[in-house]
Order: sequence, then structure tokens, then C-alpha cells
Amino acid sequence: MSHIPVLLPEMLTALSPQEGEIYVDATFGGGGYSRAILGAASCRVVGLDRDPAAIVKGKALEKEFSERFQMLQGTFSQLKDLLATIGLSKVHGFVFDLGISSYQIDEADRGFSFRFEGPLDMRMSQEGVSAADVVNTYSEQELADIIFRYGEERKSRAIARKIVAFRKQEPFRTTTQLANLVKSVVKGAKDGQNPATLTFQALRIFVNNELIEIDKGLKIAEECLLPGGRLVVVTFHSLEDRLVKQFLRARQGVRKGWNSSRSRHLPDPIEVSDMMPTFAQGKGTGASVKGITPSLTELRLNPRARSARLRSAIRLSAISQPLEREGREG
Ligand SMILES: C[S@@+](CC[C@H](N)C(=O)[O-])C[C@H]1O[C@@H](n2cnc3c(N)ncnc32)[C@H](O)[C@@H]1O
Repeated sequence: MSHIPVLLPEMLTALSPQEGEIYVDATFGGGGYSRAILGAASCRVVGLDRDPAAIVKGKALEKEFSERFQMLQGTFSQLKDLLATIGLSKVHGFVFDLGISSYQIDEADRGFSFRFEGPLDMRMSQEGVSAADVVNTYSEQELADIIFRYGEERKSRAIARKIVAFRKQEPFRTTTQLANLVKSVVKGAKDGQNPATLTFQALRIFVNNELIEIDKGLKIAEECLLPGGRLVVVTFHSLEDRLVKQFLRARQGVRKGWNSSRSRHLPDPIEVSDMMPTFAQGKGTGASVKGITPSLTELRLNPRARSARLRSAIRLSAISQPLEREGREG
């Protein structure tokens, strides 16, 4: 199945492409967003993706748009350095369409989906530790923590116990082995979703270090946006969305509800009290405090969009600096 870009008109409204400006599409995927931005104004777009398969698509777009489009390979955390390699330090907009693309999920060999038999892989970059490595070597406690923290799966302990018992007989190799094992533990998942949904989500987030990557990507965008520049983020599940909402709230000077957990795999808590606001709400872009969700028409055409939410903000000109504290001299 090809990738149908989610919330596309809404993304364009929030980004508001203008002639001569430069935008970063940090999650190039199949290039749907990049193509739409290039079509909306005579602007320049830099695409980023960590997946070699997306790079191939990006190289094709480079040929089509020559001067106006460039493709970079790497992760959000490398984005600032990668932009420097092409002489860019400040841009007018960043777009993040988080998660995995339909190309990745529908390709059995990539091992992202419980719906297809394939190697238990899940690596976006196609390198490093795979999901099979994790389930075959991590301790029962570590597996339970991963499945609970990144999947919010209530049966995490029972699943971890079964994984460890299973692998004593034979190592995990395929998506089906894991999906069947989870199915034997989780009966009646909510909203009719596949019982393996949350466990697969957890492993994918862990393998790709997704939450730390999002945190780093947002901070790089904050640093590299010009005053008046636009940040547009589309999320697909509550963990991602919570992170983006908390980041934007903190950076807009709203003090409530930021992440207070500390973990090697979660971003550090945001020290909101030490910051001057760096973002304003995306007024005039249709963005609301709650974010934008797909219309019924879009959901009818693309049911995969059902959990998508778009949040956007505008970079203020003030640079972040410590607030004057009460009682401080001078
Ligand atoms: C939902 S898809 C984007 C689809 C795209 N908007 C389109 O219209 O085709 C997300 C893409 O972001 C990439 N990605 C996710 N996390 C990344 C990260 N930390 N660094 C770089 N690319 C990442 C994935 O490999 C995937 O191709």
C-alpha cells in the first residue's frame, strides 16, 4: 500500500510555505509532505530520514526538483550537524510526521507488523540492535519495563515471563512467533485492536530510541528556527503526543504538566522555570491548544489516520535565557 500523507492540508496551513524560504521535512518517508511543500511555493526543502529505503525516494525527488530539494540521511539527533554540512544553520520551518510510514509497516521484511510473517527486526535505520536481539537477550525485568513504559501494556509482566520461557526452547526469529505468544497472554485488547499492538509498539519505540530522538529533534528545531519560523508536528500515539504537548507548553511559558520522569530512555524533565518562552501558539494557522485531528472525510479515505494529531507553534524572536528570579539583586 502506498503512503497516504496524513493531515496534509492542515500541515500546509500551519507551515505556510513562502517563496524563497527554507523548510526541513525531518521525516521524509515517501516524500508526500516534501512534494506538497515544494508545490505550495517556490521554496527550498531539505528532507531527512534515517531509513535507507526513504533515501532512495529522496534521491529521486532531488533529480526532479534539483536546486530546490536536498535529501539527508540520519536521525533527528544528528540534524543540526547534517544541516551544517550543507551550509544551513537557520531555517523557516520544521515538519515532523512522527512514527513509521506505510512503506515500512507494509513491508514484511522490515518486521514492524504483527500482520505479516517476517524477521523480528523493526530497525528504521536498518542497523544496530533489532527487536529479535532485545527479546532474545534482555532480562525478564527489562522486557517487562520496556513493554510497560513504551506500550503502556498492562500485561507487561506476564508477557515478559512468557517471552523468557519461550526463548529457553528456541530463539525468537519472526514477527508471528512474538504475535502468537502475546495473543496467548492478552485476551480482549481494547477497541478491537490486535492483542500484539502495544507490545509491538513498545519494542519499536525502544529499538529506535524514538522518544529521546523526538526530544532532541524538537530542541534542534527550536535552536535552528528563525524568528517567526514554524514548527509543525504530527503524532500518532499518546506517548509521542504527550512529549510534544509538554515541550510546547513549557516553551510557550505554560508551567503545568511537563514530564517529570527520569529514565535512560526518556528525555530529562523540562526545566520550564529557567526558560523565557521561545514559542507562541500557531495563531491564524487553525492550530488549537488541543491540536488538530483528521476530518471525518479524511478518516473515511484513510482509516490509518485515526490517531493522528497535529500541533504547531511559531518561533519567537527572544532567545532562551534565565528568568529574573524574585529577590535577586541587581
Ligand atoms: C510517518 S513517516 C513520514 C511520512 C511522510 N510525511 C510522507 O508524506 O511520506 C515517518 C518517517 O520518519 C522517519 N523517522 C522516524 N524517526 C526518525 C528519526 N529519529 N530520525 C530520522 N528519521 C526518522 C521514518 O523512517 C519514516 O520514514
